Amino acid sequence: MEQINIYSGKKAISRIVVAEGLQGLDACLKPYRHIYAVIDRNVAEKCPAVSRVMKMLEDRQARIRLVEASEESKTLETVMDICSWLLENNADRDALVLAVGGGIVTDMAGFASCIYKRGVRFAYMPTTLLSQVDASIGGKTGVNFHKYKNILGVIRQPEFTYLCPQVLESLPLRDFHSGVAEMLKTFVIEDGGNYQKAADLFFDISSEFTLEAHINGKDEGQVWKALMAKHKRTLAELIAAAARVKAGVVSRDQFERGERRKLNLGHTFAHAIETLAQQDGGERFNGHDGIQDVKGVTHGEAVAMGMVLAARLADRYYRSDRSETTELEAKISADFWDADVPCYCPYTPEEMAGIMKKDKKAEGGKVHFVLPKAIGDVETVDLTVEEVVALLK
Ligand code: GLY
Repeated sequence: MEQINIYSGKKAISRIVVAEGLQGLDACLKPYRHIYAVIDRNVAEKCPAVSRVMKMLEDRQARIRLVEASEESKTLETVMDICSWLLENNADRDALVLAVGGGIVTDMAGFASCIYKRGVRFAYMPTTLLSQVDASIGGKTGVNFHKYKNILGVIRQPEFTYLCPQVLESLPLRDFHSGVAEMLKTFVIEDGGNYQKAADLFFDISSEFTLEAHINGKDEGQVWKALMAKHKRTLAELIAAAARVKAGVVSRDQFERGERRKLNLGHTFAHAIETLAQQDGGERFNGHDGIQDVKGVTHGEAVAMGMVLAARLADRYYRSDRSETTELEAKISADFWDADVPCYCPYTPEEMAGIMKKDKKAEGGKVHFVLPKAIGDVETVDLTVEEVVALLK
């Protein structure tokens, strides 16, 4: 078990506990007498580890609310529903709201906790790799509004975040790969030897899965469960390493005035890809590995595509390298390919330009683009979308 703190100045304001098992969660919950758990209905039904958490919560007389988790349900209405439930159940200022689920559930329950009675304490147990390494750390809470993602929200830190790879055993493969992209993104920002360790692990997991499930014809669910059990120590180490990177960045720049922007590596492109995919739907040729169903593109897949584009942009910006595939781009895309993460963008820079111009983080006509110079070395550079399109042509 490892504890990582998020600081404001010298004061620890939030703690992240990384553990291979679930026992530590009970210890984290012990100080809180009135627990209100908001749990993703899907994981409550499908994840054995979450069933054990629910039993633990029942033993602590916690109240439990199951919620639907989808981008469509990530709204103020759902947050109001959570607030109504808290009110109906007499949640007081000493309540602890525990969110159990992926980033959608933690963002919504966190936001409800920030506004209910002007703020009650909250904690997270993220159940996806993506939320373990990114969404549940750093205190961003919020909901979608009109057609904008996460446009309403606040930054406030949870009491604690409990990270445990055991919950990943029932995660759909595609969601796991979404988390792979965010983890590799974190280590492109700050390496410490973890980028290659993660790339190797995800290559091993992907090859072992293919061998056992696709070639030897074993049950996919059983193969996945065995793989998660086999690799849980290395996964926990890498999840902890990613959490340490993010906790460090957030401690230095909680409210995203500067350094925290680098966590958005690949995200300006990713946002454009996700938006176009929503509008488009259907299939598109991505120019590399074939036809792609863009409608269901996951956030992590879009981030992977965005990172590959960011690597190309960086090479052209710093080195005027006009080759089709540059060295860093080739390395990152090969690692995603080996981990089974689609990473070739099906849209041209011109197609993405209109949406990138509306990036909510744009200032004075310029967008903060995070450019990877090498693994573990990124810089934020303000560029107009026109400059980016010209460089990527
Ligand atoms: N997901 C980026 C951040 O938390 O700042």
